[in-house]
Amino acid sequence: EPDETQAAFDRIIERHDRIEPRDAMPEKYRATLVRQIAQHAHSEIIGMQPEGNWLTRAPSLRRKAILLAKVQDEAGHGLYLYSAAETLGVSRQELTEKLIAGTQKYSSIFNYPTLSYADVGTIGWLVDGAAICNQVPLCRTSYGPYGRSMIRICKEESFHQRQGYELLATMMRGTPAQQEMVQESVDRFWWPALMMFGPPDADSPNTEQSMAWGIKRDTNDELRQKFVDMSVPQAERLGVTLPDPDLRWNAERGHHDFGQPDWDEFMAVVKGGGPCSAQRIAHRRKAHEDGAWVREAASAYAAKERQP
Ligand code: 3HC
Repeated sequence: EPDETQAAFDRIIERHDRIEPRDAMPEKYRATLVRQIAQHAHSEIIGMQPEGNWLTRAPSLRRKAILLAKVQDEAGHGLYLYSAAETLGVSRQELTEKLIAGTQKYSSIFNYPTLSYADVGTIGWLVDGAAICNQVPLCRTSYGPYGRSMIRICKEESFHQRQGYELLATMMRGTPAQQEMVQESVDRFWWPALMMFGPPDADSPNTEQSMAWGIKRDTNDELRQKFVDMSVPQAERLGVTLPDPDLRWNAERGHHDFGQPDWDEFMAVVKGGGPCSAQRIAHRRKAHEDGAWVREAASAYAAKERQP
């Protein structure tokens, strides 16, 4: 009965228990999860491009090996998340086609270029740092497969953040030119990193419902604040300044006050107007088309294997 189904679902959510693939769930709950998990997976896959840009130009074998491992991890996170989405009745093929068609989103942050090698460190420190702030609570999200996928992803994300911070710390002990390269990179990535958490809660159409369903355990602004509070002492230890004149400790609040990102820029990037938006999708489309023969061969082989 619809009422009984809704009541059973509501009881699980109220107990902060897990909704599993076989549980009855409201269609809107399922659709919200497909949207968010697909977007999360797309972000991991597209996120390989900015860093991949520096794979052939890493300054040492050690740095190249670390970056290679990180980019491969991101691919794995994407496939992990597509598998979580597939438990909701969608296919990776369908989601990939929507990404390429521009009807599904990925994180705004990956539409910015990686102009210097220091960006590899800044992405690890700030972008993966922001991802950690957002993903740790998702370990407790109400949908079982999504929450469980976050356990391993968060462990690997911590390695991503540490290697980025260590890369920047090394450069900050280097020449003035290296220190300037780090500062210039941080200046370019700080505000886009704050935008990763989504619009302010007051302008977020999905947050209230996602909190009620336990999909989100914290709001966009709460996680953004946590990220700022985490990053300020790290920036001080690195010896870089964060490009926000309004950033200061507020003892009364027990948090840092900080300025507002350029939300017009955010909306433009989300709508596909980012500096690298067209290039990222074109690259993904070409990779998908270039890989068609592999998918066809695998399908033909699988069909042959099934023949009696
Ligand atoms: N980039 C692109 N679109 C964004 C966005 C961003 N940074 N932030 C919000 N949006 C979109 C939303 O998708 C929504 O549009 P839609 O309804 O058409 O999908 C609209 O802007 C309004 O935002 P809301 O806050 O109402 O939307 P959500 O409730 O979905 O919250 C979110 C946005 C906080 C990003 C949430 O979707 C989320 O937590 N997603 C999972 C985490 C994730 O995707 N992280 C990507 C980080 S990159 C990464 O993890 C790779 C790592 O290895 C570096």
